[in-house]
Amino acid sequence: MKKFYVTTPIYYTNGPPHLGHAYTTIAADVIARFKKIQGFDVFFLTGTDEHCQKVEKAAKEAGKTPIQFVNEIVQQYKELWVELDIEYDKFIRTTDSYHEKAVQNIFQQMYDAGLIYKGKYEGWYCVPCETFLTDSQLVNGKCPDCGRDVKREQEESYFFKLSTYRKKLQKLFEENKQFVQPNSRWHEAYNFFKDELRDLSVSRKNVKWGIPVPFDKEHVIYVWLDALFNYLTAIEYDGKNPKSANNFWPADVHLVGKEIAKFHAVYWPAMLWAVGLKEPKQVYAHGWWTIEGDKMSKSKGNYVEPHAVIAKYGCDAFRYFLLRENTFGEDGDYSQKSFDARYNGELADEFGNLANRTLVMLNRYCNGKVPPKPKTSKLQKTVEEKVKLYEDKMEAYQFNRALEETWSIIKEANKLVNDSEPWKLAKEGKQKEVENVMYELCESLRITAVLLYPFMPSSSERLYNALGLKEVKKIKLKQCKWGEIKEGKQTAEKLVLFPKIQ
Ligand code: MSP
Repeated sequence: MKKFYVTTPIYYTNGPPHLGHAYTTIAADVIARFKKIQGFDVFFLTGTDEHCQKVEKAAKEAGKTPIQFVNEIVQQYKELWVELDIEYDKFIRTTDSYHEKAVQNIFQQMYDAGLIYKGKYEGWYCVPCETFLTDSQLVNGKCPDCGRDVKREQEESYFFKLSTYRKKLQKLFEENKQFVQPNSRWHEAYNFFKDELRDLSVSRKNVKWGIPVPFDKEHVIYVWLDALFNYLTAIEYDGKNPKSANNFWPADVHLVGKEIAKFHAVYWPAMLWAVGLKEPKQVYAHGWWTIEGDKMSKSKGNYVEPHAVIAKYGCDAFRYFLLRENTFGEDGDYSQKSFDARYNGELADEFGNLANRTLVMLNRYCNGKVPPKPKTSKLQKTVEEKVKLYEDKMEAYQFNRALEETWSIIKEANKLVNDSEPWKLAKEGKQKEVENVMYELCESLRITAVLLYPFMPSSSERLYNALGLKEVKKIKLKQCKWGEIKEGKQTAEKLVLFPKIQ
């Protein structure tokens, strides 16, 4: 079976998860579930990045030790992933002892190979981004990525010979434009190193919360070196032997937010090469969400609380909205107005209503059973075309386009109901014609349930079951061929997937 390895960034544990974290994780879950229905053997990794300076600070403010503090935050992440129906295969914590040990081995290995040397770091450091910055990188004296104040640092540090890999990176980028996507991020990362690439400081002297450098206890390992290797330690890499990693490596896609594309696209391949491993196949960077047109900020009250949205609309509606509202890879805006419009319009009126009225009519006109397959079909051609387009769009991570294709099926099916008016046909005693329409609706809904499974697993399952079928997640996309639903399946009397919200 072909393998597919998808990852999310591992999230900092200085505060509870928010919409941004949920977004990447939902997208990764959608990809993982899609690849599964395509027939891949999938490994989906997520987790937490715990050794950051921010944690040290946040824990102190909360009067807790760092580990007490992160344990509570990790719990909140895990709970949210359950609420959001995230079906990850592994949750890695960078405080897991196997990870810490492997990272020390990696550091030692690089040092022994002469790829790490001791020097002195002088420059700026942005604590929120955990990143080293030069004078020329600052924008108006602030961090170019988050716009916040930076600290002047001057300390003894170990350096990784990143500069040695500039040419190799250039080759990788030039030969493979898909390595970083979307294109704009490819260019951004390429411009970052194409003229100059400096060695990277990979240890901190005045920070206590971190993995100690194995041969110099005064230093802890730079959090990004520690964090990036999670993608390998999670699949059994021991930090010594490149063959210890299992065969999910190289990862098929690292999903990241645009602000951390550089770390994944530039530092990460170089670090991998340094220990004799291959670069990942792709780094895919998505955009940022603003809330009601403004930057997300809890203190300004401009904030979306995932639990509250799930409680009111259900997890599937939240998942759907985030992937439907904007193009993956670009920035998007989350607004209540748009959410309500999509919820009531697309989910309740179009999709939910189609499902419910089909079941009610089946019950009324066909004894609640799937009728026999008619000889000709009005919807088959559209449905088969849309399934193909859906698959293409999903392969390209164009989730909103894939949903549009699925919605074309829903719209066509609703149109068939309105045009054919089964209730009139029934009144006129045209039973065969009623049954023909009802079969088309059942089959369209069955296929829609499969296509929507990656996005809305529980609604999809409920619909699938309501059609008298079992375990939508075991169905492969290949089975979305027209005409597979069997006559006589007992269907549910009704199904309210998305109750309308006033
Ligand atoms: N710990 C690092 C990643 C290390 S990966 C080896 C980190 N963590 S983070 O907690 O700051 O999470 C960043 C990720 O959260 C982003 O890459 C993105 O996936 C997501 N988002 C955070 N804010 C976001 C928005 N406003 N909008 C969309 N996603 C954003 O960086």
